[in-house]
Amino acid sequence: MGAPREIHAVAAGQLEARPGLDALVGGGGLSPDRRRAFALRLDRYWPDLEAAVAELHPDPQVADGLLARLVRAAATAYAERPADLHELDQHRLLTPDWLQQPGMFGYACYADRFAGDLRGVAERLDHLEELGVTYLHLMPLLAPREGDNDGGYAVRDYRAVRDDLGTTEDLRDLATTLRGRGISLVVDLVLNHVAREHEWAARARAGEAAYRDYFHVFPDRDLPDAYERTLPEVFPDFAPGSFTWDDELAGWVWTTFNEWQWDLNWANPAVLAELAEVILWLANLGVEVLRLDAIAFLWKRMGTSCQNQPEVHAITQALHALTRMAAPAVAFKAEAIVGPRDLVQYLGTGRHAGRVSDLAYHNSLMVQIWSMLATGNTILARQAFHALPPTPGTGTWVTYVRCHDDIGWAIDDSDAHAAGVTGPGHRHFLADWYAGTFPGSWAEGLVFQANAETGDRRISGTAASLAGHEEARILLAHAIAAGWGGIPVIWSGDELAQPNNPGWADEAGHADDNRWAHRPRLDWGLASARDDRSTLAGRVFSGLAHLARVRAGLPQLHASADTIVLPDTDDGVLAVVRRHASGPMVGLYNVSAERRPFHLHRLRAEGLAAPYDALSGQVLEAGGDGVLWLPAYAAWWVVDR
Ligand code: GLC
Ligand code: GLC
Repeated sequence: MGAPREIHAVAAGQLEARPGLDALVGGGGLSPDRRRAFALRLDRYWPDLEAAVAELHPDPQVADGLLARLVRAAATAYAERPADLHELDQHRLLTPDWLQQPGMFGYACYADRFAGDLRGVAERLDHLEELGVTYLHLMPLLAPREGDNDGGYAVRDYRAVRDDLGTTEDLRDLATTLRGRGISLVVDLVLNHVAREHEWAARARAGEAAYRDYFHVFPDRDLPDAYERTLPEVFPDFAPGSFTWDDELAGWVWTTFNEWQWDLNWANPAVLAELAEVILWLANLGVEVLRLDAIAFLWKRMGTSCQNQPEVHAITQALHALTRMAAPAVAFKAEAIVGPRDLVQYLGTGRHAGRVSDLAYHNSLMVQIWSMLATGNTILARQAFHALPPTPGTGTWVTYVRCHDDIGWAIDDSDAHAAGVTGPGHRHFLADWYAGTFPGSWAEGLVFQANAETGDRRISGTAASLAGHEEARILLAHAIAAGWGGIPVIWSGDELAQPNNPGWADEAGHADDNRWAHRPRLDWGLASARDDRSTLAGRVFSGLAHLARVRAGLPQLHASADTIVLPDTDDGVLAVVRRHASGPMVGLYNVSAERRPFHLHRLRAEGLAAPYDALSGQVLEAGGDGVLWLPAYAAWWVVDR
């Protein structure tokens, strides 16, 4: 094979003399400056790419073939990248911490449920701008299978936009419009599976061996049974088991999620190459962040849960290196809803530090926020945050209160034990509390996927319904997320305190899946009255917009600073310190329904000579005993005046 050798030579340095480079980046079409810029990036990212591919494919012949295809794809995408996006690349290279800046504020929605279609979204940007949004995550919008498709997470064609949402051109236009208004477009990329109707699956079903190898297919139950001994179930209610018999395949195909979502075989180099090409294509449409859906599941290993395997990070590293070569403005967000101890790896640890996703969902923070509100107590949360491994300084959390999915009670057993409860007991309590069945509960959630075997019950519900429609609790939950450091992302409808949709089961394909209860269409009637402070919707909207505005002015909230939880506070108080070069900030949160004390001297000890709450604009003054009293559900962002 000639190609790999040529690419090795090109990547081996010697910027001036690069015999193979012209062929790679499309020959004479590029100016010398452009060619040189690509050569620099190739030098910079080649080691990351090569190491990642070698980790996945120890056989050098396989590795070389894959490297050749990947570098060619990056070079081609680079050569085809539109001029405005090259300029964006330059801009991002000059501002590598763009995602970490405190002005970042996110919003996530289904384009259709928010505004009908992609053009409709472009017409509703005032709503988002008023809220302070700089980052817009549109839920899956690539062409899905007909019928039930898990909200678009069963993709039939990665190269086409969902018919009813618009066209590829509409997507490009929307990305451009958003960029012009300072909003980055975030799009889902489903990596773990495709729809049974995707061309690859269709060709596998038609008997093409090369495509059968894109999936995990087994002739009998031997291996599926062996895997299932250690596989957790994601949808035990409506999609039990992780394998589906397919007559046309005459085999059992791996289906972690629904039976029409076929897991891809990432051990096949062709799968990695195909998805890399999809990523580069989306990058050139102007997508700025890719949400890597269900990424924890990509690599299967007998005897494990088949989640969080080290190869997942090698795959991400390879894709990331390629994207940096062709389109460095593009960032990755890992959707790994896993236990607290497994989470940090997705921002890169060990040999993958700084080389994988730029963003990851802080699932553990989300769970602890709801746990604190239910108990009015911070002991377990403090323990859990304290036990979290440190995050790399280049990694950024997406902090959130709700998203489109259910809440799984990711409470670590050892954290629970250290806090004086048990993991199963506390998870049971949280499910009861948020289902509204625990005496005294104000919550109105719905049980999602009760698992008889493990006793787990996940919960659906909007932020307002889970918080019992209580303004102070809704705002406190969001203030904790927005004050954590990272990009806070508001789930559509929560900015107006929308309740669960009582008619959630009525839409075609939704009746089985009560996650649709918290995926309401945006209520534009409520939205038009968002300035009316006499309504809950108006107060929550302005409260969240206020959080965004105050955040943007606090350098302490730059995501590179660590978030440290102070020990030995009142049980109802969470105190979070961010030590940033510009000065310290202490977030003080009372998660209980009574006033709670905090000692002024502890703020002084953190270096705050004149403590001032940036949210209320008040100087904090204690009584003669030096005690500050936080009202019920108070949130204070304390900085030096
Ligand atoms: C992700 C999505 C979820 C979906 C699953 C399968 O976890 O967030 O909604 O069901 O992946 O694609
Ligand atoms: C995800 C998560 C799981 C979530 C589900 C969809 O990938 O791992 O916690 O509940 O898919 O709802």
